[in-house]
Amino acid sequence: MVINENELVQHALQARKRAYVPYSHWAVGAALLTKDGRIYEGCNIENAAYTPTNCAERTAFFKAVSEGEREFAAIAVVGAYEDAEPEQICAPCGVCRQVMMEFCDPETFRVILGTKEGVQVSKTLQEMLPYGFGPDVLK
Ligand code: THU
Repeated sequence: MVINENELVQHALQARKRAYVPYSHWAVGAALLTKDGRIYEGCNIENAAYTPTNCAERTAFFKAVSEGEREFAAIAVVGAYEDAEPEQICAPCGVCRQVMMEFCDPETFRVILGTKEGVQVSKTLQEMLPYGFGPDVLK
């Protein structure tokens, strides 16, 4: 499928506006594209106990998977302090890369890192998580 990467970054920028970040003040937005063209937006959701915090990428994945989605094409991510616009890329944490590994083909799934100017980096999951441990290992 043809992926409109800049459009996906625009969705991530919208999602970022809903980030709940009273502790770090670092607001992240993500937009997850399914293979049939649906987009699930996610933001980070922090917690006073800190460890229950959910990253924007995982919010998007858990929304989509809980709605029955299993086939994904790409995710866009943007991040910056909440009082600023994203001017530099925000790379997904290792836990989020592992969640991508569970549901996505590392050779084709694209991880798009954006700023307010649009797409800055577009890589495969394989490039973002080399030698990843995925569900195929346990089959
Ligand atoms: N965070 C994300 O949501 N995604 C990332 O890619 C990096 C980090 C969140 C977690 C926490 O709420 C805040 O950013 C600071 O770590």
